[in-house]
Amino acid sequence: MKGFCFAGGGDPTLHPALWDALELVRDRGRQSAILTNGIEINTDRRREIAVSTCRWIGVSLDAATPDRYSRIKRTGPRVFQQVLENVRAMVDQVRRRDLRCEIAIKYLIHPSNSDQILAACELARDLGVAHFHARPAASENIEGLGERLDFPMEEINQQLDACLALQTPTFKTFGVRHKFTRTFNLEHGFSRCLAAPLAIQCGADGRVYLCIDWRGSPRHVLGMHWPEPEQILEFWGSPAHIEKLRAVQVEKCPRCTYGIYARQIENALERDAMCLNFP
Ligand SMILES: C[S@@+](CC[C@H](N)C(=O)[O-])C[C@H]1O[C@@H](n2cnc3c(N)ncnc32)[C@H](O)[C@@H]1O
Ligand code: SF4
Repeated sequence: MKGFCFAGGGDPTLHPALWDALELVRDRGRQSAILTNGIEINTDRRREIAVSTCRWIGVSLDAATPDRYSRIKRTGPRVFQQVLENVRAMVDQVRRRDLRCEIAIKYLIHPSNSDQILAACELARDLGVAHFHARPAASENIEGLGERLDFPMEEINQQLDACLALQTPTFKTFGVRHKFTRTFNLEHGFSRCLAAPLAIQCGADGRVYLCIDWRGSPRHVLGMHWPEPEQILEFWGSPAHIEKLRAVQVEKCPRCTYGIYARQIENALERDAMCLNFP
C-alpha cells in the first residue's frame, strides 16, 4: 500500500485519530491525501500536520458566496469564511516551506450551485491553491437520491471554458467532462466490474467494502479491517471476493469512480484495442 486517501461519506477530519494516522503514514514512508470540507483544519497544529503529510488535499467548497454555501451545506453564516481562512493558511505554509502538497478547491456541480462555478474558480485562483476541480454530482442508483439531475449544460459549459482561461503555470483548472455523458447523467460504458480491486475501501465502521461507491452498503461488505488489519489477507483476492466481483450487475451500480479504468481494461486487454502483441 503506497497511498492512503482519507475521505468518505462523512468528513475525515471528524475522526479524532486522523491527525495521528497522517503522521503514522508519513513516518512509515507512505503518502496520504485528504478529501474534506476543510472546516476542521482550523488550528496551527492540524494545518501543519495536513500540509506536511499529504501529497494533496482536496477541499470541497461547492459554492462561491457565504449565503449559497450555508444554504447548500446547511451551516452557520461564518463557516464559509472559516474554510477560506483554513485554505489560505495552508497555502501560506506550503509556499513558505516549499512543500510538495498540492491543495485543490473542489466543486461538485449540482443544479443548486451551477451558476457559481466560474466565481468559485476565481476565488480558488485568488486563494493561491494549485488546482480547481469541478465535476458533476451523481444521483442515479444512489440510495436516498435516485433521481436524474437536470443540469443547465449551456451555462455550465460556458463557465468551465472560462475556467480554463484562468489557468496559469501555477494554477490549473479541471472541468472534468470527458468522464461523463454530455448531460452529466449515468452511462457506464463497460460491462463488467474489473477495476474495483485497484483500491481497497476501508470504512470508518471497520468494514471493507467491494468498492468506494458501495461504501456503507451491507450487501457489499467483504470483511473487517478492524481490529486486526491482517484479516484483510484472508478475504482479499479470495474465491468469495472474486465471486462478488463477478456477480456485480453494472447497470445497477451508481456512477462508478473507477469506471474509466474498467473501460480501459475491457478495451485494451479484453478487446485488444491496442494490439497488445505488437508494442
Ligand atoms: C462524499 S465526499 C466526503 C468528503 C468530505 N466531507 C467533502 O466534503 O469532500 C467525497 C467526495 O465525493 C464527492 N461527492 C459527494 N457527493 C457526490 C455525488 N452525489 N456525486 C459525485 N460525487 C460526490 C464530493 O464532492 C467529494 O469530492
Ligand atoms: S460501482 Fe459497480 S462497477 Fe464500479 S467498482 Fe463498484 S461494483 Fe464495480
